[in-house]
Amino acid sequence: MFYRPADGHGLPHNPFNAIIAPRPIGWISTRCSTGDNLAPYSFFNAVAYVPPQVMFASTGRKDSVRAIRETGVFAVNLVSEGLLHQMNASSAPLARGIDEFAVAGVTKAECETISCPRVLESPATLECCMTQVLQLAGKDNFVILGEVIGVHLRDEFLRDGRYDLRLVRPLARCGYRDYTVVGDQFALNRPDET
Ligand SMILES: Cc1cc2nc3c(=O)[nH]c(=O)nc-3n(C[C@H](O)[C@H](O)[C@H](O)COP(=O)(O)O)c2cc1C
Repeated sequence: MFYRPADGHGLPHNPFNAIIAPRPIGWISTRCSTGDNLAPYSFFNAVAYVPPQVMFASTGRKDSVRAIRETGVFAVNLVSEGLLHQMNASSAPLARGIDEFAVAGVTKAECETISCPRVLESPATLECCMTQVLQLAGKDNFVILGEVIGVHLRDEFLRDGRYDLRLVRPLARCGYRDYTVVGDQFALNRPDET
């Protein structure tokens, strides 16, 4: 089949998210004048190595973006399989001022380099300084870019000096209400490598 998004897809549900899948989940924690905030974003990825930079996109005017505009910082907590239900609970549309750390039942820890909470149970957390907020086409679509200035790795996920995804078992978002878990991996050299 072929469709032009502007004309509709003709399917029971929009396949767009399923086409671009699986996506890592950035569990974004922020702090602002109304309290601490935690929410998952699967329009999330790394975008540069030096300095390390990440992005996530918000569709709609969300508390995370408001807090980041206010403070200029945020943390990205990565989500392992064991944090599935906590992550999902934190996505509920709660009144401003309600702390999603408590609602999700995760432990709040302090970041090292920024004034921001982080999820202690996360296998890895990236402490970020916001560098840009881009407004995209459409109503209330934003991309938040940040530079990573601190990295937490839980020691139990390090094996032989590597952050081992077979131990982490990262959770990833597919289309519809579907998820997957990375439980397998293989290595492949580049063509110019022996
Ligand atoms: C797995 C998952 C991924 C999500 N990804 C996004 C996303 O990429 N962008 C977005 O705007 N909302 C996304 N959401 C919805 C937000 O998490 C939800 O709107 C949340 O309430 C926003 O919280 P906030 O207003 O505290 O920032 C996602 C939800 C789930 C469960």
